[in-house]
Amino acid sequence: MAHLFNRNVLLGVSGGIAAYKSAELVRQLLEQGATVRVIMTRGAQEFITPLTLQALSGNPVHTELLDAEAELGMSHIELARWADLLLIAPATADLLARLAGGRADDLLTTVALATAAPLLLAPAMNQQMWRDKATAANVATLRARGCALVGPASGEQACGDIGPGRMEEPAVIAATAASLFETGLLAGKRVVITAGPTREALDPVRFISNHSSGKMGYALARAAADAGARTTLVSGPVTLPAPDHVRVLQVESASQMLEQSLQLLPECDIFIGCAAVADYRPAAVAVQKIKKGPEEISLQLVRNPDIVAAVAASENRPFTVGFAAETQDLLAHARDKMARKGLDMIVANDVSDRSIGFNSDDNAATVLWADGEQVLALAGKAALARQIIELIAGRLVTADKCN
Ligand code: PMT
Repeated sequence: MAHLFNRNVLLGVSGGIAAYKSAELVRQLLEQGATVRVIMTRGAQEFITPLTLQALSGNPVHTELLDAEAELGMSHIELARWADLLLIAPATADLLARLAGGRADDLLTTVALATAAPLLLAPAMNQQMWRDKATAANVATLRARGCALVGPASGEQACGDIGPGRMEEPAVIAATAASLFETGLLAGKRVVITAGPTREALDPVRFISNHSSGKMGYALARAAADAGARTTLVSGPVTLPAPDHVRVLQVESASQMLEQSLQLLPECDIFIGCAAVADYRPAAVAVQKIKKGPEEISLQLVRNPDIVAAVAASENRPFTVGFAAETQDLLAHARDKMARKGLDMIVANDVSDRSIGFNSDDNAATVLWADGEQVLALAGKAALARQIIELIAGRLVTADKCN
């Protein structure tokens, strides 16, 4: 399971024998879904080459603070801002001392000062150095500032001593890094959300679509990510920026949205169908632009597949939530849709009111499930999305208790 999905991990490697393990650590972080960039101190480069970590991480390795060329590529301040987590492994006694002292005498310590990201340290040193009062004081200072530590482990050391000071295993470090992000109502859950309109092509330049702006779906994605979920948006064409920590997969038509959604199902615990999917598409797409001709022409349409119903009917189905966009008999139509499509929950919104629903900043809804409902009063879409995510999390807890 990719617990560091969409997270930027900046790995600092300092100069100790355990530096060779950073190659495996990069691999473990990537396996957890992280994007990894590496900073190496001069000492680290005596133990493992930047080329090795560049090849494994897929990104250039950063080594120098005062390097005009490197600063042009990604400056130390950009690196500091890029990171969601600064992980230093191994963190030598000298590195801990420099961090505790607030030094900025190389690229790694400078970035450590310049970043707002959490700092996770994996100390590695001789057991006597670890036990030394100076190191203990430095560790206490760093802990008091909110730095997290993983390890050191105890055991036989490279120098032959036995005791605490071995760097933790890369798998343990990567799991600890992931656990720092495992907070919130949907921690560890994988959420897929469809958003925006679909476009059904008539010819190379024309299509059938609707007024969905994607605002509701994107707000849900932001709320799910804020609740700790690894969140993917399957988005029709909209002009909104990707929310932080949300993977956005762009599609155009209902068929593409269906295909993309089904592909994501093996890694999906919660599916929310918020997209305004076109129910019909032209039976044929003209290869050339349709020419103006007679006064009247008719268009033959065929039914599109129902995405949310297909998800709900799949094997090992996720908790499946749909929306109902209605202009009359809101609750009756919504309950009917929930039953017909086999959904666990449905969010009914009245789209006859232009101030809510399609392309508005606000919305109001009634959320329905098998044995309950909750009215959500008029609010901004961000606030409404947070309430919907809370309701989903609550239903999941109830479902878990019943299983
Ligand atoms: O994007 P915004 O401008 O912010 O507007 C938000 C919204 C009004 C689009 C949103 O709140 C909303 O109501 N989305 C659902 C729109 C819709 O298509 O509703 P429906 O009642 O036609 O469909 C019911 C459910 O089936 C929906 O979950 C829909 O995504 C799904 N569906 C519909 C047709 C289809 N072929 N496949 C589907 O999955």
